[in-house]
Amino acid sequence: MQLRTAYLCFGLLLLLAGSSHQATLANATYYVGAVAEYYPVTSGTNGTVISTANANNYATFVKKASSYSADIIVFPEGTLTAGLQESSTNRTNYTSYSSFIPNESEGVIPCGNASSTVIEALKIMSCAARNYSMYILVNVNEKENCTNATSCPSDGYYFYSTNVVFNRSGSIISKYRKYNLFNQPGFDITSSAQNATFVSDFNVTFGHFIGFDITYRYPALSLLENVNVTDILFPSRWYSQLPYTTAVQVQAAWAHRNNVNFLAAGYSDPSTGSGGAGLYAGNSGIIISAFSESPSNLLLVARIPKINGTRAAINSSSNLTYKFDSTEITTRNVLLSTHQVVSRENISPYTTSLIGLNNATYNQTICNSGLCCKFNVSVVYNSTLVSSSNNSYYRYRFAVFNGVKTYSNVITNGIQVCSIIACINDTQDSCAYRYDTNATLIHPTNFTFISITGNFSNQTSYFQLPYTLATNLLPLNSSSYSFALTNLNSTYNTIGFNLTSPQSSLFTYAIWGRNFATDGLSIATTSSAVRPIPMILGIVMIILGVGNM
Ligand SMILES: *[C@@H]1O[C@H](CO)[C@@H](O)[C@H](O)[C@H]1NC(C)=O
Ligand SMILES: *[C@@H]1O[C@H](CO)[C@@H](O)[C@H](O)[C@H]1NC(C)=O
Ligand SMILES: *[C@@H]1O[C@H](CO)[C@@H](O)[C@H](O)[C@H]1NC(C)=O
Ligand SMILES: *[C@@H]1O[C@H](CO)[C@@H](O)[C@H](O)[C@H]1NC(C)=O
Ligand SMILES: *[C@@H]1O[C@H](CO)[C@@H](O)[C@H](O)[C@H]1NC(C)=O
Ligand SMILES: *[C@@H]1O[C@H](CO)[C@@H](O)[C@H](O)[C@H]1NC(C)=O
Ligand SMILES: *[C@@H]1O[C@H](CO)[C@@H](O)[C@H](O)[C@H]1NC(C)=O
Ligand SMILES: *[C@@H]1O[C@H](CO)[C@@H](O)[C@H](O)[C@H]1NC(C)=O
Ligand SMILES: *[C@@H]1O[C@H](CO)[C@@H](O)[C@H](O)[C@H]1NC(C)=O
Ligand SMILES: *[C@@H]1O[C@H](CO)[C@@H](O)[C@H](O)[C@H]1NC(C)=O
Ligand SMILES: *[C@@H]1O[C@H](CO)[C@@H](O)[C@H](O)[C@H]1NC(C)=O
Ligand SMILES: *[C@@H]1O[C@H](CO)[C@@H](O)[C@H](O)[C@H]1NC(C)=O
Repeated sequence: MQLRTAYLCFGLLLLLAGSSHQATLANATYYVGAVAEYYPVTSGTNGTVISTANANNYATFVKKASSYSADIIVFPEGTLTAGLQESSTNRTNYTSYSSFIPNESEGVIPCGNASSTVIEALKIMSCAARNYSMYILVNVNEKENCTNATSCPSDGYYFYSTNVVFNRSGSIISKYRKYNLFNQPGFDITSSAQNATFVSDFNVTFGHFIGFDITYRYPALSLLENVNVTDILFPSRWYSQLPYTTAVQVQAAWAHRNNVNFLAAGYSDPSTGSGGAGLYAGNSGIIISAFSESPSNLLLVARIPKINGTRAAINSSSNLTYKFDSTEITTRNVLLSTHQVVSRENISPYTTSLIGLNNATYNQTICNSGLCCKFNVSVVYNSTLVSSSNNSYYRYRFAVFNGVKTYSNVITNGIQVCSIIACINDTQDSCAYRYDTNATLIHPTNFTFISITGNFSNQTSYFQLPYTLATNLLPLNSSSYSFALTNLNSTYNTIGFNLTSPQSSLFTYAIWGRNFATDGLSIATTSSAVRPIPMILGIVMIILGVGNM
């Protein structure tokens, strides 16, 4: 019903504009952005056949996006050349799952170009960009001949996970090679992170990066120091984890904290907890987002208010979600899983404290490994709701952590967390588990007020985000909270994270900070039980600092 309303409003706007596809002008206050949540073709005779099939599906998205006057569309990480076993170090199959890609400086238009060495899939995308006069970002496996006799891989190639941007003429105008790989041991990386940017004809300067890059400083945060970058394109294959790092939660928080427009596309594969896409207007909030529980082919479209000193208001009547059916894009027929199989953070090293099942106001400070968080919280508990039914409901804990976390035992990151998280019973072990999607949830605990404050380092190796999540796996909108940093002294900011409207379906409410300097350390190294001798810690920091440069 809501969808249909959005559809009609948008159609009306198009009629008034008098064209089925009119490119946005440089002096307009909005442009039209589109992103995909896409479940790819993963099997076929070889990688070339698979990428061609996915490109033909992408072209269906582009055509549909064009009917809504999209200026730019972003496709997910890994879905074009899908099906490659990226977690394998054996690169025998990589060549047929990858493409040579000319550099942007060559100004090549692969469409209809017989001499172009790019794979058929990229020619299809170049033609789609030209035919529909739209900017298109695709992520594709890139291969590059290695000619350095002394340091080449034995197969003679470098393989990269690469973003390719086509302009409205189908010309390759920007490339970016993923720098922070996640469980992709067969891929190579560049010697330093590339800052990939381009200026569109509608006068917006975009930056782009890929998936796991978002958890690091280079290139994600450093890109924002580049001139005029106000909008970010983000193809992702994101393995969501409760309670802190689910897909849309991370996208919304990063856009909010950096106050940038953010266009995020997601690889839909719920059996691995993957999916999630959205269009975000910085700290003005989420314009539209989706995190599908079953394999989905969704196109999200919205007007994105340009940032030109200030930002125009979000025009909510201009957003829409188009769900392709299985006659339009056949991959949904292959569907098996019916809900997101999200992984779970190990909460056991956290210092936690239970929030009781009663009306109460809490005013307490909780510390873990030197990080202290102050919680000022009011809850109203509706006991009649519980006694009158036999349904499922979440309990909550304050949870604080300062140390190193692991993503699937593959990569470790330094983090600092002040949070309230959901649990399914009164034990700490039950936290961050989700009730089955078939369960009937009730929400007896209403948070009428939350204020979390903590002192966080303002040095460049630290960075903090406002992570919120509701039980539907989507974050709260910006209008529900305020996240403010105030300078305490030369090394610390006091961060205040206040809930400004009551919430009864909360899953996570967290100041979630990064400590880049402890990335790569083992989980045990910084467990709260073992405090390193300060002098040794100092030496470790210096070595890491040099390594990071
Ligand atoms: C393009 O954007 C820049 C910076 O945001 C602004 O100064 C300039 O006036 C814009 N140009 C037009 C034609 O609006
Ligand atoms: C951007 O700001 C400049 C300077 O204030 C103004 O001249 C220009 O018209 C603005 N452009 C848009 C698209 O708002
Ligand atoms: C925007 O630019 C177009 C041509 O470049 C011009 O016709 C139009 O009047 C301008 N609109 C505004 C609001 O300045
Ligand atoms: C992939 O398979 C197709 C269809 O069987 C075949 O025509 C093509 O030559 C193969 N390509 C590669 C690189 O093996
Ligand atoms: C290479 O592809 C073949 C055919 O799809 C598959 O059976 C094999 O497991 C793949 N090998 C690796 C190392 O990924
Ligand atoms: C690598 O994978 C290919 C294709 O699956 C296989 O034929 C080959 O034996 C594997 N090589 C090694 C060293 O395992
Ligand atoms: C890569 O090397 C092969 C073999 O030397 C050559 O045929 C091909 O043209 C090269 N491709 C590019 C894009 O340089
Ligand atoms: C080849 O690799 C070596 C070792 O990594 C490096 O020192 C050298 O500069 C490289 N040469 C070229 C031409 O890239
Ligand atoms: C990317 O931009 C950052 C911030 O301006 C800069 O420190 C870094 O050197 C740049 N990287 C490259 C490869 O130019
Ligand atoms: C940044 O925007 C300003 C204003 O539009 C423009 O003059 C300048 O050339 C832009 N710089 C870059 C590097 O694009
Ligand atoms: C998007 O549009 C729908 C329908 O008009 C509306 O219900 C929804 O609130 C909008 N989203 C935002 C973030 O405004
Ligand atoms: C909590 O307060 C509400 C009114 O604010 C009241 O209706 C409810 O009965 C109270 N619950 C308990 C467990 O005292």
